[in-house]
Amino acid sequence: MVGQAAAEDLSRDARNEAGENVRAGPPLGMLAELTHRCPLQCPYCSNPLRLLKAGDELETGDWLRVFDQAAELGVLQIHLSGGEPTLRSDLDQFVERLAAHGVYSNLITAGVNLSADKIKKLAGLGLDHVQLSVQSVRRENADRITNYKGALARKRAFAGWVIEAGLPLTINAVTHRNNIDETEAFIQFALDAGAQRIEVANTQYYGWAAVNRAALMPGYEQCLRQADIVGAAQRKLTGILNIDYVPTDYYAKYPKPCMGGWANDVFNVTPNGQVLPCHAAESLTDMEFENVRERPLAEIWYASKSFNRFRGAGWMPEPCRSCERKHVDFGGCRCQAFAMTGDARATDPACSLSPHHHAMESLAGNLSSSNAPPAFEYRRIGRY
Ligand code: SF4
Ligand code: FES
Repeated sequence: MVGQAAAEDLSRDARNEAGENVRAGPPLGMLAELTHRCPLQCPYCSNPLRLLKAGDELETGDWLRVFDQAAELGVLQIHLSGGEPTLRSDLDQFVERLAAHGVYSNLITAGVNLSADKIKKLAGLGLDHVQLSVQSVRRENADRITNYKGALARKRAFAGWVIEAGLPLTINAVTHRNNIDETEAFIQFALDAGAQRIEVANTQYYGWAAVNRAALMPGYEQCLRQADIVGAAQRKLTGILNIDYVPTDYYAKYPKPCMGGWANDVFNVTPNGQVLPCHAAESLTDMEFENVRERPLAEIWYASKSFNRFRGAGWMPEPCRSCERKHVDFGGCRCQAFAMTGDARATDPACSLSPHHHAMESLAGNLSSSNAPPAFEYRRIGRY
């Protein structure tokens, strides 16, 4: 573990956007995007448009070194994600290494390319948890959203194998205009599958989702109905199924506390080793990020300019600067602020106090009220 003295030493010259000295605590979690390759082509994917090819990815030894450094840094949970992380032939070694460090490992998967034996093997090697994405509980809609025939049947079978392997299961249901009316059915799917938890999360418009925003934006009424359904289910299923809910930003009163605050307790490593404070940070074109091939994680976490830029609260402009919620939502999402206003420091327009909020809400209303939304632009390596 990086000791307090070493952390303080690394943070000595750490300054945020406003020039304030900032000192981070150790991170709790890391998202390891092992690959951008994926058998599915979901149009709501938050991966960047310029997807990396297999040849760009970190090699086995690089990832093992990253996991060693993450454990030393104090990371407690590592989410193995992608793309589809199970396309990495060295996944077994990664799970084994994390188990040896006592780090909690969570596999985030589409669940279409794994066998019962493989998930059993991963459980035996020390995998702690599985998160399975489900795009629709209607066969044809699932095929359409994923651009993969038979996705739903494979996912049902996979969920059964996860339970048989004795692993806890979370269902990830990312909702948008094409499946938001299935919210109740998603919750039933999770119950039938024996999951302990479901995340019903509305699409965040980064990466491919931003390109497909007009095809994905749900209507205000749909969102209200969903909130009622989720609220009722949360009350009814207390103690049976945990339901985490991320409502649509575009109709919100206040923004989500994105990532729990910039570089506050989690970070992301991309398939080629870029270290980011959040999964969409590469969309901030006025910033540069560092790479695990060139600098140890501890230095990047405590001392890099990119991680320190939005730490603390002194960098915030008005209205966040004098707002009583600034330590609750941290001014919202930097990536959304940049995408909507061109300024990463701006108040997230999802906030009703932002001068850009009205434009964001009107945009959502206009997009969702179209009777002829555009066709999906499917996620595909090499398209951009
Ligand atoms: Fe949050 Fe800023 Fe809005 Fe206040 S003004 S609620 S801190 S985003
Ligand atoms: Fe980057 Fe919210 S996704 S700060």
